[in-house]
Parts: sequence; structure tokens; C-alpha cells
Amino acid sequence: MIPKVRKAVFPAAGLGTRFLPATKAMPKEMLPLVDKPLIQYCVEEAMHSGIQDIIIVTGRGKSSIEDHFDVSFELEQLLESKNKTDMLSMVRSISDMIDVCYIRQKEALGLGHAVLRAKDLVGNEPFATVLSDDVIASDVPCIRQLLDIYEYYGASVVALMEVPPDQISSYGVVDAEPVSHNGNEHRVFRIRNMVEKPKPSDAPSNLAIIGRYILTPEIFTCIESIEPGAGGELQLTDALKYMLRSRPIYGLKFDGKRYDAGDKLGFLKATVEFALNRHDMGDAFRTYLKGLTL
Ligand code: UTP
Repeated sequence: MIPKVRKAVFPAAGLGTRFLPATKAMPKEMLPLVDKPLIQYCVEEAMHSGIQDIIIVTGRGKSSIEDHFDVSFELEQLLESKNKTDMLSMVRSISDMIDVCYIRQKEALGLGHAVLRAKDLVGNEPFATVLSDDVIASDVPCIRQLLDIYEYYGASVVALMEVPPDQISSYGVVDAEPVSHNGNEHRVFRIRNMVEKPKPSDAPSNLAIIGRYILTPEIFTCIESIEPGAGGELQLTDALKYMLRSRPIYGLKFDGKRYDAGDKLGFLKATVEFALNRHDMGDAFRTYLKGLTL
């Protein structure tokens, strides 16, 4: 029987240099899209995908993430005394949302290293990995889409997206062959190889790995077996490539739109589109945008 995925690891210990100076003292995972921190969108996505436990890998200066998912007694008391019941239940729903535990990555030694920090908390079971600066708008949560593939093949699965050549060197890129899955030839791939941050001329395809993964527990031994790669960091892509020697890995071109909210322009695009989709302010914001001279 294929073991069930119950846990999700959220590496959130990166330095967020692309978003300085905002991220000097504030984790990028706490940047708000309209009024909700990036990481909350992703925790909700995990929850709606059936994940039960969240493990957040934090670093220095990340305590606001812990505070956000914790109970805020003073705030709750204040809202209660002022009879602001809607706000009170919204604030309470965040701490009631799901079980969250934390582990520290003392130095930002790479995404692979951050995932490895969660080894003891994950144990010998498959788990999801979610990068909260990739925010995904979709009808079916992206993690759920990946889980459907995992539950069919019983192997690790990565989320894939087509990327134009001038941006390809920012990603891990796969060499993959399409497999027929439920009569659909164009969405599921069996991965042959992968390269972290290739030059456009060396990229094996235009399919890039984005921040959603389902990983089988062998990934931990693979991370322990590799040497630091691009940028002197322990790269998750290199560990996945190592895993390919002994295990199959699948890729899914997911349905949905991904925003790179860890990048200033990507963040602005996400903010505008999320605001336009809001019932409480979408119309007013649209009117405002239409009135701008562009
Ligand atoms: P990024 O590649 O976006 O790096 O990490 P970063 O340091 O966070 O941001 P920039 O590029 O300098 O602006 C992808 C994900 O991996 C986590 C980050 O928090 C982010 O969610 N990460 C990265 C770690 O947890 N630890 C690391 O050592 C590196």
C-alpha cells in the first residue's frame, strides 16, 4: 500500500535578498498579499489538500511566523471587549487552523539543507515540501494535484511550469518524457534528469520546477550524500537528481497560476490580481486602476 502523506515541510529560513530592504528584519514569508501573509496562503493550500501537520523550518529573525500561527491573547481580549466578533473569529481561526511545529536552520546553507533539518520531525514517511514565496491560485489546490499523482505512482512528484528562455536560469530544469495519465498526455512526466539554474543554452527543456514537491523519505539520505552545488548551497534539485539513480520521480504541469511573490515584480502582480479578485474591494480597486493614466 502507498503510504499517506500527512506532513508538509515549509522551508522558511532563506535570507530573502531579492526583497531587501523589506526583508532585512522581516521574513519574506510574512509579506502580505492584500491582508494575508504569503505563508498563510500556502498553509491553507496544504490544509485544503488534506495535510494534517505543518513543519516550518525557520531561521534568525523569523519569530513573527511563530507568533502569527500562535494564539494572541491581548488581541483576542481587545476584540472581544469591543464586540468585534467577525475579526475575533478570523484571528482565532489562524491559531486553530492546523498543528504547526518549528525547527531551526541556524545558517542559510540551502534549500536541501533546510529540508534535511526536518528529517527527525518527518520520520520515515512521505511528505510535501512547500516554498511559501510561490503562491498559486488554482481551483484544485496545487498540493492536492501533486498528491493525486503521488497516490497513483507511489513516487516523488515535483510541480512543473513552462518558463521562457530568458528566465530559465533562475530555476531547476527537467529533462522529462510525457507519460499517459488518465488519457492525458501533456501534464504528467517521468523525469530523466534535472539541472539547477542552467544557462539557457544548457537547459534540457522549458519545464522548470517550482515550489511544490511530494517527497519520499529517501530524499534525506540523498541530501546527506550530495556536495554543495550552485551558490555553494546544498540544493534540493541536486538531491532529487541523486535520487533518480535509484527511484523514479514524476513531474506534473499543474493547473493554476503561480506567482513568484519572493520577487518584487512577481509580488506586485500577485497583489494586483488577488486584490481584483476580492469580493470586498475588487470593484473599487478595478475602478481605481481604470482611472490611472498609464
Ligand atoms: P530562495 O531561493 O527564494 O532563497 O529560497 P531566499 O534566500 O529565501 O531568497 P532570495 O533568493 O535571497 O531572495 C527558496 C525557499 O527556500 C527557503 C527560503 O526560505 C524559500 O522558502 N530556504 C532557502 C531556506 O529555508 N533555507 C536556505 O538556506 C535557503
